[in-house]
Amino acid sequence: MAALLRLENVSKRFGGIVALNQVNMEIQYGEFVGIVGPNGSGKTTLFNVINGVYFPDEGRVLFEDRDISRLPTHRRASIGLGRTFQIPRPFASATVRENVAVGAMFGSRGKETNVNESMLVAESIIERMGLSRHRDKKAELLTPVEKKLMEIARALAMKPKLLLMDEAMAGMHPGEIDRLVELLGGVAAEEEVAIVAMVEHVMRAVVGMAQKIIVLHQGEKICDAPAQEALNDPKVIECYLGYTPEEAS
Ligand SMILES: Nc1ncnc2c1ncn2[C@@H]1O[C@H](COP(=O)(O)OP(=O)(O)OP(=O)(O)O)[C@@H](O)[C@H]1O
Ligand SMILES: [Mg+2]
Repeated sequence: MAALLRLENVSKRFGGIVALNQVNMEIQYGEFVGIVGPNGSGKTTLFNVINGVYFPDEGRVLFEDRDISRLPTHRRASIGLGRTFQIPRPFASATVRENVAVGAMFGSRGKETNVNESMLVAESIIERMGLSRHRDKKAELLTPVEKKLMEIARALAMKPKLLLMDEAMAGMHPGEIDRLVELLGGVAAEEEVAIVAMVEHVMRAVVGMAQKIIVLHQGEKICDAPAQEALNDPKVIECYLGYTPEEAS
């Protein structure tokens, strides 16, 4: 089967800065992938080229073999390319269930989804994300971490084929990240949604779950391998980790 997402020789420059340099990569259906790299290595630019905030200067972005390099960002959701924080701000005075149901109504299957169906979709995703006991709470009463979980639930309710999570774990404690990563690994496998998460300093959690890790360094992909292998790659250790693989486990 063809890859869900494929980048071919993608380059993106900002004036004289080469933010992405000839990047090739593939994401498979249902895969859970972590993108890591030091500050300024091109992670956000990579996400923005995939979600259409930027068009590549060179190369192509293919989604299910279709060239989407220049597809406007708002059209990408309807073909199954989702991202967290895609729907602006939660509706503070609406309940968690209502907020997640909005995702279901505007997802790739939104055309056929009525309010009742959307509520049912919302229920099941809320349960998956461990938010059941908050389902009738107003969104504004959630803790920051619970709000993040709700944002992810809303994005998942849209039934994306690929979900991009840009710094969705920032500000979480290690324990919360471990829990979220484990949850996402399960969601990716069972709901058949590929999840590409930008993960900052959470290598330990990611190693347990991710099928692979893509490491960027100065705009170049320097490693694309199963997590354990990536952690042991001398190039990665040198440029990014700054500690020995033993300490990572
Ligand atoms: N809009 C922009 N205009 C000019 N330069 C940019 C722009 N966006 C990114 N850059 C530059 O491109 C390079 C890659 O930046 P990018 O934000 O993609 O890195 P990053 O890996 O997300 O970094 P961080 O970990 O700090 O978020 C950097 O040198 C950055 O200064
Ligand atoms: Mg960034």
